[in-house]
Amino acid sequence: MEKALTLSHSTIGKKALLAVSGLVLFGFVIGHMLGNLQVFLGPEKLNAYAATLHHTPALLWGTRIVLVVAIITHITMALQLMGRSSAARPVSYAKKDNAVTSYAAITMKLSGPILFFYIVFHLAHFTVPGLALGSYEHSATNVYANVVNAFSIPWVAAVYIIAQVLVGFHLYHGAWSMFQTLGLSHPRYEGKKKLAAQSLALIVMIGNISMPVCVLAGVIPQAT
Ligand code: HEM
Repeated sequence: MEKALTLSHSTIGKKALLAVSGLVLFGFVIGHMLGNLQVFLGPEKLNAYAATLHHTPALLWGTRIVLVVAIITHITMALQLMGRSSAARPVSYAKKDNAVTSYAAITMKLSGPILFFYIVFHLAHFTVPGLALGSYEHSATNVYANVVNAFSIPWVAAVYIIAQVLVGFHLYHGAWSMFQTLGLSHPRYEGKKKLAAQSLALIVMIGNISMPVCVLAGVIPQAT
């Protein structure tokens, strides 16, 4: 009984862990975007920023460990909660009354797994092993060249743009559910909650999409 009531065993505990790990990942995505947007300031700035991260092992590995724990927690809790809700209702409702909730749930079930594969692809592409997806060399130090060379290839830019739209939807519904879990479900906050979730998701989506689009458009200069 006592065990069943511990945080990770109760449904509310699982939802809280899902929300907190989501918040950590949300924070990373915003910080990562702000760092990457230095691509607009030129190769010196972006490469110096990347070099600082790589030469500060406590920061780099501290962030990596927090990220891995957050991702594992987030996926585990999401899968367990999905398992619980289908076990509680083995036969689905003939008519679903709450169209908004089921639309959000379907969006999360689709965007979640796709994002997982995007992250695996993204890490292989830019981090380990670091892949050149066209006729250029991947560089361990010139992050600017890696980004600009990759986004000059239309299919790579397209994959990133589509992934960022999914990231945006996932963040929107994720932020919305997080507000709910954290107790902001009063009808008085409905409008503000929706606006906050939409604005945050839209800022991240536009910021991230601006990079491949501006490389393709020639606004961000080619690496020399
Ligand atoms: C257009 C958008 C994005 C660009 C241009 C971008 C670019 C990069 C680059 C260049 C690196 C390697 C950095 C280095 O070697 O110092 C990197 C690493 C990474 N990116 Fe992104 N990224 C984008 C979006 C995202 C998103 C949406 C996520 C998560 C959902 C993400 C997750 C990561 C992670 C986890 C790493 C590894 C960090 C580490 O080395 O510890 N990225 N990204």
